Amino acid sequence: MKGRIPRQFIDTLLARSDIVDVVGARVPLKKAGKDLMACCPFHDEKTPSFSVSPSKQFYYCFGCGAHGNALDFLMEYDRIGFVDAVETLANLAGIEVPREAFATQGPDHRPLYQLLDEIAAWYREQLRTHPDAIAYLKQRGLSGEISARFAIGYAPSGWDRLLKRFGTQADQIARLVESGMLIDNEGKRYDRFRERIMFPIRDSRGRVVGFGGRLTGDGKPKYLNSPETPLFHKSEALYGLYEARQALRRLDRLLVVEGYMDVVALAQYGIDYAVATLGTAATNRHIELLFRHAPSVCFCFDGDDAGRAAAWKALNHLLPMMRDGREARFLFLPEGEDPDSLVRQEGRETFEDRIVHAKPLSDYLFEHSAEGIDLGSADGKARYAEQLRPLLERLPGGLFRQMLFKRLDDLLGLRAHAAHGAPARRAGPRPPRPLTMNATRIAIALLLRHPRLGHDPELVTDWADAGIPGTDFLLRLLEIIREQPDISPARLLEHYRGSDEEPIVRRLFAAPLSIQETGAEAVSDESLRAELRGALQRLSDKARRERIRQRIRGQPPA
Ligand code: UTP
Ligand code: MN
Repeated sequence: MKGRIPRQFIDTLLARSDIVDVVGARVPLKKAGKDLMACCPFHDEKTPSFSVSPSKQFYYCFGCGAHGNALDFLMEYDRIGFVDAVETLANLAGIEVPREAFATQGPDHRPLYQLLDEIAAWYREQLRTHPDAIAYLKQRGLSGEISARFAIGYAPSGWDRLLKRFGTQADQIARLVESGMLIDNEGKRYDRFRERIMFPIRDSRGRVVGFGGRLTGDGKPKYLNSPETPLFHKSEALYGLYEARQALRRLDRLLVVEGYMDVVALAQYGIDYAVATLGTAATNRHIELLFRHAPSVCFCFDGDDAGRAAAWKALNHLLPMMRDGREARFLFLPEGEDPDSLVRQEGRETFEDRIVHAKPLSDYLFEHSAEGIDLGSADGKARYAEQLRPLLERLPGGLFRQMLFKRLDDLLGLRAHAAHGAPARRAGPRPPRPLTMNATRIAIALLLRHPRLGHDPELVTDWADAGIPGTDFLLRLLEIIREQPDISPARLLEHYRGSDEEPIVRRLFAAPLSIQETGAEAVSDESLRAELRGALQRLSDKARRERIRQRIRGQPPA
């Protein structure tokens, strides 16, 4: 496992990168004064309100409030995690990401990962020497190439093959039990997986966290999964996600299916973006994980009653998570078929056609709610509205929510004038509610965005010990700026990532100031300096009043 990336490196990396290159490679930028402008990639708009500042190394959208440094942009735009964003940026800058020796926070799971990795390799080896198992995979129509891509292996028969191979030391035996590979029955230990085709389950970074095993013959249970372990949590595991990420540089959509075999068969037919939950319905965690990797997710269901019930349940989980920019679809399969059987029958194109034309969540919601209701009658309409409204209420604010409320109004023959959601103009993240800007906040906001203002020798700091809320933070910010005289706003923001202060720092980065400092009519340094001096002077006055008040209160009664 890789260790932490040293903070100092991230700072250096930002200092050596240019946000203009990063954004410019993905969004066409046009020069406008000191800054560059574009139509915002994070919400729909026709006139540009997305600005990139070369001097601040910062982007900001006046429309939707999206903002951040080069790393934030990569995370949002490429939909990747922080570590991947650092790697991407380092790649661009042509520098290697150093790693610290692994920090000893929490238990060290490295030996467990290592062990599962070795076990997966051993199952692969076993497959090679078990012609029956190979024959089974052949008969299921799997190519050697696909078996290799998914690292499919075989757990041989016998009660202690794995135990004998890996359990030579006491600490290894303990790990085999901890990782669920051995069953411990009052001290009697034996292999959990026997005579099964083994599917390693990898996390999104490719580490084996557990296994699923299918019997090659008859018997029960047909499939067996690893139990919950420190590494494996069924409610958030998605089989095939790692493999999909490996196969496709950019995931435009994900298809959620039921079984291991479905994922693998679809991949063999060139549909590389299928993932499976492991014998459970999709949880909220699954849904978050899915949307973190792709903007559009299609859920596959059997065409029978159980499938329809499962779909309605999934819809209920999805409703509160349907932020603007996310798309969910429902694909109902013909009865008696699963994706594995279907793709083999009809091939990639026809199957992909089903995915493309799968029912959007909104259609499914409206159609399902209309079942058994006569929309021609006033009575029916009332019942329909009664059913749908509470469901629509569960959608997060935004354009999508508004559109669905309007659709309901249209269906009922009502004129849509009621405002049901957020302002209609835009889709995308909503700008944060504006903060009340007192002197402390104004000073912090100015310093975050223009750190060089902190070098002004005429700034007063005699407010420092008056205990005014926020002034500790302000003082520390001034210190940071003085310790690193040429720090950019982008690097300052990085300094706070992951800290308790990050949310407020982000809001202050985006907070409106009475003084307009971005865009074409950027104000001069002189007026910014005056603004900051003014704010600190007000703090200073406040501190003096505070001291006087304390002195009066502290005086012994005359
Ligand atoms: P299915 O029973 O639909 O099997 O289980 P399948 O995927 O079509 O498998 P094949 O084609 O017979 O090989 C779907 C999923 O439900 C879980 C597994 O994750 C499986 O992939 N399952 C099923 C279990 O966990 N245990 C079982 O006994 C059966
Ligand atoms: Mn099947």
